[in-house]
Amino acid sequence: MRHFLDLASWSDDELHALLERAGVLEHTPSTALTGRVLGLLFMNPSLRTLASFQSGMSRLGGSSFVISPGRGSWELETRLGVVMNDVAAEHVREAIPVLASYADLLGIRAFASGTDLQADVEDRLFHQLAALSPVPVINLESAIDHPCQALADWKTLDDLDVPRQGGRFVLSWAYHPKALPLAVPAAAVQFAARRGMDVTVLRPNGFGLPEAVMERARSAAAAAGGSVRESEDRGEAMEGAHVLYAKSWTAPADYGDAEAESFRRASLRDWCVGESWFETAAKDCRFLHCLPVRRNVVVRDEVLDGPRSVVVPQARNRMFAQMAVLEKLMASKEIAS
Ligand code: CP
Repeated sequence: MRHFLDLASWSDDELHALLERAGVLEHTPSTALTGRVLGLLFMNPSLRTLASFQSGMSRLGGSSFVISPGRGSWELETRLGVVMNDVAAEHVREAIPVLASYADLLGIRAFASGTDLQADVEDRLFHQLAALSPVPVINLESAIDHPCQALADWKTLDDLDVPRQGGRFVLSWAYHPKALPLAVPAAAVQFAARRGMDVTVLRPNGFGLPEAVMERARSAAAAAGGSVRESEDRGEAMEGAHVLYAKSWTAPADYGDAEAESFRRASLRDWCVGESWFETAAKDCRFLHCLPVRRNVVVRDEVLDGPRSVVVPQARNRMFAQMAVLEKLMASKEIAS
C-alpha cells in the first residue's frame, strides 16, 4: 500500500508515469474510481486543494467527503497525553481511524506549528497523523511539504516546454504581512532540483531555507544533473531565468519569535514582484505562484495579469496531477489487499 506524503518516496520513473498519466487524464475521461470514496481532513483552510480533489474524484467516478474541524465538525486535539478540557472535543487518535473506516483513501492537511523549527522540518505532526490511518494517505500540505502542488508545478513546466537540463528556476521570497509556512518553498526547490534544473533561491538576509531543506535539494540536483544555490542579488539571480516562482515564507532565523520576525520583514516591502524584476531574465520567463496571492503586496497586477503569469493553468494542473495520484494509490491498495 502506497502513500503520497512527499515526492522523495517516489522514484523518477514513478513520478514520470504520474506526470504522463496526468496529461492523459487532462484530455481523456476515466471511471477508474467508480464507487470509491476519498476522505478529506482539512485542519487548515483551502480553496484549490479542496476543490481540485473533490472535482478530480468526481471526474474519476468516485465521491468524497470533507471534514474541517471547528467549522461544522468537532475541534480535534493533536497533542498526545493532554487533558482535553479545552475546545477540542475529539482526539485525532479516534477521528482519523474513524474517517478512514468510511473511505478508501484519506487526504490530510496540517500546517506547521510555526513554533518549533526542528519539529516542523521533520514534519513530526504530519507523520503522527498519517500513521493513524489504515488506508493510503495523501499529503494535502504539511509543515514542510506540499507534494501535490509540486507535482502540478512540474506538469506546468513540462506543458510549457521549460527546459529541464539547463533550465533556470528562481524561487524568490516575496513580502507578505504575515509569517507564512515553509511547505511550498521547500516543495518547490525540491521538485525543480529533481527536475534537473539550475535552481537559485533568491531571498533577503535571514530568510534562507533551513539547511535540511537545502541539503535535500542539493542532493536531488546532483542526482538529476542540476544545481542549487542562494542569492540576495535580484538582478544576478534573475539572469537568464526561465521561471520565477514567488512565495513568501517565515524567516527561519527568527522561527517562533513573531516580534523579531515581523521586525525583520517590515523593511522588505519592496520584495513585491514587478515587471522590472525580469529585466535580466529570459524573454519568455514565466511567473508561477501556488496561490492564494495578495495582489500588489506579493506581486503587482502588471505581472499577474500579464503574459508571463501561468498561475491559473498551474492551479488547474492540481486536479490532473492529483487524479493520477488517486488512481495510483487506489491501484496499489487493491494489489496489497
Ligand atoms: N496552493 C494551494 O494549496 O491552495 P489552497 O491553500 O487554496 O488549497
